[in-house]
Amino acid sequence: MLRPKSNSMRMVLCLDGIWTLKVNNEERPIAVPGSWNEQYQDLCYEEGPLVYSTDFFVPEKFVDKHIRLYFGAVNTDCVIFINGEKVKENHIGYLPFEVDITGKVRKGKNELKVVVENHLKMGGFPSKIPEEGTHTVGFLGSFPAANFDFFPYGGIIRPVMMEFTEHSRIVDVWVDTSESNMEEKLGKVKVKVMVSEEAMGEEMKITFGGIEKKVKLINTHLEEEFTLRDVKFWSPKVPHLYPLKLEIMEKDEYELEIGIRVISWDEKRLYLNGKPIFLKGFGKHEEFPVLGQGTFYPLMVKDFNLLKWINANSFRTSHYPYSEEWLDLADRLGVLVIDEAPHVGITRHHYNTKTQNLAVENLKRIIDRDKNHPSVIMWSVANEPESNYPEADKFFKMLYKTAKNLDRTRPVVMVSMMDTPDERTRDVALRHFDIICVNRYYGWYVHQGRIEEGLKALEKDLDELYKRHKKPIFITEFGADAIAGFHYDPPQMFSEEYQAELIKKTVELLMRKDYIIGAHPWAFADFKTPQNVRRPILNHKGVFTRDRQPKLSAHVLRKLWSNS
Ligand code: GCU
Repeated sequence: MLRPKSNSMRMVLCLDGIWTLKVNNEERPIAVPGSWNEQYQDLCYEEGPLVYSTDFFVPEKFVDKHIRLYFGAVNTDCVIFINGEKVKENHIGYLPFEVDITGKVRKGKNELKVVVENHLKMGGFPSKIPEEGTHTVGFLGSFPAANFDFFPYGGIIRPVMMEFTEHSRIVDVWVDTSESNMEEKLGKVKVKVMVSEEAMGEEMKITFGGIEKKVKLINTHLEEEFTLRDVKFWSPKVPHLYPLKLEIMEKDEYELEIGIRVISWDEKRLYLNGKPIFLKGFGKHEEFPVLGQGTFYPLMVKDFNLLKWINANSFRTSHYPYSEEWLDLADRLGVLVIDEAPHVGITRHHYNTKTQNLAVENLKRIIDRDKNHPSVIMWSVANEPESNYPEADKFFKMLYKTAKNLDRTRPVVMVSMMDTPDERTRDVALRHFDIICVNRYYGWYVHQGRIEEGLKALEKDLDELYKRHKKPIFITEFGADAIAGFHYDPPQMFSEEYQAELIKKTVELLMRKDYIIGAHPWAFADFKTPQNVRRPILNHKGVFTRDRQPKLSAHVLRKLWSNS
């Protein structure tokens, strides 16, 4: 699926702005994109159904075009109506969907209505805490009953666009640069294109790296290869992008920015363009006060500015796909991204065919959306599932194979909290994945208040983990809560000093291990969670506060990472 883009052949109507929200038959303004929860006090815990509506106008000359309605994401279940006619249902949050509304709009004023529900469901993604209280995050009695540690925001959280094109049009593009040769500085670029049936017989022109190829369209799928000499490989230091332009003469055009880079790995290291790379960065969230979750441009610019300030080179889109604009900026600024599916809070109750099919659909959608971004270096299929249950093996083997079949050019991972030295946590699914990603909270959830003891246990755990898997290990989460402004000497849990010392000493340990490929303290910034006895309004493990001010640990990490 291509994101709508304005150009000389495509017209895009952006529908973002202030819409109308009907709540129990009372109408009120609502901002799109954004979550409803923090725009109104009485909607903070609302799960819907809520009815969004807005008018849009279509000039006569556009009425007969091919018309595509595109939602960046709606959380979570929604039904779409155009002028009262139901045109689509969608039941996956955090990911885009499109509706072909050709012939369904009239000249002048039209009405778009979106009915949204955001009920937490057992077996849904993300998941509700199972009734009997079994959960993976140990938050008995959370409200809302989320089986994960972030607030379940609802709403039209990403941009809404309407795109007008000719019926003869480009439908999708897939670019593969994985066979490039670093030694010979040779960029080998495969371009696969899908066009509409109406384009048969037309001529396509593909321009890339100064090379132009013309092809007569004889079926809806075509593939062309380009070889570039003396190529500039994409990397954090040199995030060079090459324009790729596709044209169906006089009918359509679409342009992408392509980074030529190769990701590889062996039993100890991760390589970018043949050189070992160590992932310095964070797990984070895509949320902010009042805005909730969604596409917020100033927040993106600020967070990338801070990632560069702190000398990070990567982040994980924990625990769901972020707006695609995050990946545009990561491509442009040279930041590596672990792209995570919205599969958090998975329990033994998820290990069934219906839920597996939904998870497979999610994976297909995230890979379809993000496949051409050079910044995406890894697909994460889940965060912290209950993967010590026998059924988890089949469930995650299927997800691994699905992702691999769709994209053999990137490592596929699952982030586990399991597989510690405690036999009861043996992870039955982790072995299927290319790189071993684990979350470990020594010195916080275990060995509380005893950092040195925790570090010894961490080292023992990781050495055993490596012996078992003989694959590169990525510590995707570790850290401590620090309430900004809380200080204590000697360092004490919840103080900024304790967080800074735990993070510093853990990073120093991890950087000494030749099989560790990355260390991501949890988390980039404080964030809102459901209410429970462990969360004073927010999760305070951020190295930045929720409004992006640095704690002591941010200064410590900046120094530590400046020399590596
Ligand atoms: C888990 C989980 C995070 C959570 C963190 C914590 O590892 O992946 O989503 O916020 O622990 O407890 O702070």
